[in-house]
Amino acid sequence: MLDFFDSRSDYIGEELNIDNSPKDPFTQFRKWIQEAIKFGIKDPNAMVLSTIDEHMHPHSRIVLMKEFNASGFIFFSNYQSAKGLQLANNPNASLLFFWKEFYRQIRIEGSISKLSEKESDEYFNSRPYDSRINAIVSPQSREIESKKKLIEAGNAIKNKFGKNIDRPAYWGGYKLEANYFEFWQGQPNRLHDRLIYIKQDHSWIKTILAP
Ligand SMILES: Cc1cc2nc3c(=O)[nH]c(=O)nc-3n(C[C@H](O)[C@H](O)[C@H](O)COP(=O)(O)O)c2cc1C
Repeated sequence: MLDFFDSRSDYIGEELNIDNSPKDPFTQFRKWIQEAIKFGIKDPNAMVLSTIDEHMHPHSRIVLMKEFNASGFIFFSNYQSAKGLQLANNPNASLLFFWKEFYRQIRIEGSISKLSEKESDEYFNSRPYDSRINAIVSPQSREIESKKKLIEAGNAIKNKFGKNIDRPAYWGGYKLEANYFEFWQGQPNRLHDRLIYIKQDHSWIKTILAP
């Protein structure tokens, strides 16, 4: 039997101080993700996206953040996938980044909406040809007969349309507009730092939570 009861690591990281931290969470997020990139963490933009279905059951999976700015965190997916249907029904969602090399976690909560068609087109057209083909032929989250059938469908599109392929309406971008951030920094003896930003009207209120 494999268990982790005796597995402990003492976390040490730069202290997160409410007084010295930036006024807005985006500056703090940018600082941490730049440090993760500089450190060479692989796929630092991989994040857990959690959504809720119509029975109020949560579902989580990794997606890749492609961009972030003060208006949101952007990722791309299939609008008819399980997550797509859940988001169409309930836009409330959360994102989670975990960079174990730094003992850092970031939790972000908010509401998700679709990007404009133009923004989705731009990103779709920037993707490698085979990724575009596979986004077109994959009925993401639905049962398929075999992977071979997907490959055949992809080859059929390649033969018929060549390089002349457009983004399908069922695939595109999403943006999470955040109203809550938690920056978690591991510290020795379980006295971890938890710095919270809550959006109130148009400004951010900072607070700290017990670890
Ligand atoms: C490292 C990694 C990156 C991924 N990036 C994406 C992504 O950007 N978009 C996406 O739709 N799925 C991505 N996936 C696949 C999703 O985790 C998931 O399998 C898929 O979106 C279907 O989820 P759903 O059935 O809940 O909708 C990624 C998976 C991994 C492990």
